[in-house]
Amino acid sequence: QIYRASTTAPVNIAVIKYWGKRDTALNLPTNSSLSVTLSQKSLRTHTTASASSSYSGQDSLILNGEEEDIQSSKRTQACLKHLRSLRAELEDKDSSLPKLSSFPLRLVSSNNFPTAAGLASSAAGFAALVRAIADLYELPQSPEQLSLIARQGSGSACRSLQGGFVAWRAGTEADGSDSKSQEVAPVEHWPTMRALILVVSAEKKGVPSTAGMQTTVETSTLAPARFTEIVPRRMKEIEKAIQEKDFETFGRITMQDSNSFHAICLDSWPPIHYLNDVSRAAMNAVETANRKAGKIIAAYTFDAGPNAVIYYEKENAHLVAGVFKNVLARVSGWEGEFSDEIRPNEY
Ligand code: DP6
Repeated sequence: QIYRASTTAPVNIAVIKYWGKRDTALNLPTNSSLSVTLSQKSLRTHTTASASSSYSGQDSLILNGEEEDIQSSKRTQACLKHLRSLRAELEDKDSSLPKLSSFPLRLVSSNNFPTAAGLASSAAGFAALVRAIADLYELPQSPEQLSLIARQGSGSACRSLQGGFVAWRAGTEADGSDSKSQEVAPVEHWPTMRALILVVSAEKKGVPSTAGMQTTVETSTLAPARFTEIVPRRMKEIEKAIQEKDFETFGRITMQDSNSFHAICLDSWPPIHYLNDVSRAAMNAVETANRKAGKIIAAYTFDAGPNAVIYYEKENAHLVAGVFKNVLARVSGWEGEFSDEIRPNEY
């Protein structure tokens, strides 16, 4: 008999960025962060987990049709070990349960968007992996509790187990037991929120985030102030802006925090560059649109790559799309594209 469970997990795009670890083994961050979970129609990972006594060999993962080496991935191993031990606890309590914890796992996963192009694929990937195995094992743990496991796979993944506006509380415990996600507001709270992705490049990014953030923690002179003063203040401000549906404040902080993250990247040694000329043209386009509107109607944010995510409210969709097409048409040699309008996801 083969036991099987399938699930999907969405991508989330941070408006307050996670960039820096205080503990690299447990994946504990230097600061809290906050993201919006995006619709799975546009961006998601689909994962099937199965287990059987008839399977031989070790656990395996096929991602987008190719076998991944998960035996040497400490992070994947940490997630699998944690999930197995939770299943084993259930089996110890109820001897009628099949001993799934002792069977090899087969995982098959696929993304509907380019992997590692700075489009948060690791977030959806580890969230889907943890959720699929938790479903297969029929674990009673809440999304918040599962986020502690997903975090060990990839930090940003802990924010992809809930919908709407999600915070990752950095926590203070050395064992990471309080470093988990928390829903700040459900998607229905702010139904007019929209996002657009400008795919500047679908190429694999230059410096992987794990290595990049370590360089920043070790060398950036600006980073300490960001970790201890700037982000804690912004977290409070943006949470209030979300509660009050105050787009101007939400948008300003989103842009400031993206810029602060890219500033500490540039301040690292060797310097880390994720933005390119098209990214900068996109920033200009948004700033021009806001100036013309006389208020903030759109906000850009960039992860560890040149692609822009633009947040705006539904009523300003035409302004955002119009200004963009105009300005970007002038960037010579650019062959990127826009996504369709994306809604936040309810999970
Ligand atoms: C720039 O979650 O990919 O997207 O924990 O090392 O796997 P690891 O890093 P990862 O970093 C994401 C960084 C970011 C900002 C963010 O999503 O908050």
